[in-house]
Amino acid sequence: MQAVVLVGGEGTRLRPLTCSTVKAMVPVLNKPFLEHMVAYLRSYGVDDIILALCYLPDQIETYFEDGSRFGVRLTYVVEKSPLGTAGAVKNAEGHLGNRFLVFNGDIFTDIDLGAMLHFHRERKARATIALTPVDDPTSYGVIETEANGRVKRFLEKPSWDEVTTNLINAGIYVVDREVLQDVPEGSPFMFERHLFPGLLANGVPVYGYSSGAYWIDIGAPDKYMQLHSDLLQGKGSRATAGESAHAQPMYQTGNSVTHPTAAIEGPVIIANACTIGAGVSIQGPACIGEGCTILDGAVVDRAVLWRDVRVGQQATLRSCIVGDGCRIGDRSCVDRGSVVGDRVVVNQGCHVGCYSKIWPGTEIRSTHPPV
Ligand code: GDD
Ligand code: MG
Repeated sequence: MQAVVLVGGEGTRLRPLTCSTVKAMVPVLNKPFLEHMVAYLRSYGVDDIILALCYLPDQIETYFEDGSRFGVRLTYVVEKSPLGTAGAVKNAEGHLGNRFLVFNGDIFTDIDLGAMLHFHRERKARATIALTPVDDPTSYGVIETEANGRVKRFLEKPSWDEVTTNLINAGIYVVDREVLQDVPEGSPFMFERHLFPGLLANGVPVYGYSSGAYWIDIGAPDKYMQLHSDLLQGKGSRATAGESAHAQPMYQTGNSVTHPTAAIEGPVIIANACTIGAGVSIQGPACIGEGCTILDGAVVDRAVLWRDVRVGQQATLRSCIVGDGCRIGDRSCVDRGSVVGDRVVVNQGCHVGCYSKIWPGTEIRSTHPPV
């Protein structure tokens, strides 16, 4: 089975994390997000994967190469300028067979693809869209169906007064090649706003496959944090890649050193080459990336740290995301909901207030407000 994974977006809502890292390469449990998706696809026998790229394509290709290290065959199709979700698939048409899957590249799910394909065949659909329930449908594409699943209406990013169901487009499609006939070549075209509504207008059978499986779009910092918290607590973890699929109180890999007086309350994952000092407190769910140093007396409370972060003595990190190579000074604090880009320096004693977003490379010199 083949899948096209759409990984061409700029990931603007995940900035500053995506200023230098493409959304698909953002680490989840210390592995690139896309690695989890590739492992999940492979577990359903999808081993021929076409990556539709645009923004920062080299990062993905350098890491995944031909895919053999991950047990799949990868083909890269790069757009010169963004062609939209359906335009990107049209651009890859030369590599595609008669029926294939399409995945938004920022979806973490354990939806049963076998059952979805079966549903598609049984209904004799030309396109089947996975549907998932969410609390707030206004950030997504709302899809109304008949009782048998046939799609009646699409409403992309509706306002609350337009919302009629909590079932939304999960960004996973089974597509029969013939529907690509309606997609123009070389110009932007979207599944959600153009192709699917057009198919409906022409009476082509498009179905919605509703599922209560684990599902999240990691496109915004709160969802990215939520995914970590869920996976660390065992939800959705069937779809993770490799050894990090654990929900143990503490899972430490390789040669990290934790001082015996450090208090670690799980679930916490600590990657290779980390040093956790005396009296440090780590409260899970938390994920500490490779090469991090957490100095004596620091507190890490439900945070996600990328690689090579240095947390100073008695510093506090609360429910935040801290990018590669950051330096958090002694007695400083990064508060709830903050997203700190790569290589940020927070000078000693400074306070990064709740929900701050700090651009990569910034030096925080003054305290607002004082700790
Ligand atoms: N190759 C390529 N080219 N990829 C693209 C392009 C493009 O021009 N535009 C977007 N993508 C990729 C993004 O990288 C992402 O993986 C995926 O397509 C979806 O784009 P988002 O920007 O994340 O869309 P969204 O989250 O606002 O909405 C979409 O996903 C929702 C589910 O999460 C829509 O499909 C909604 O209907 C849906 O509910
Ligand atoms: Mg998205």
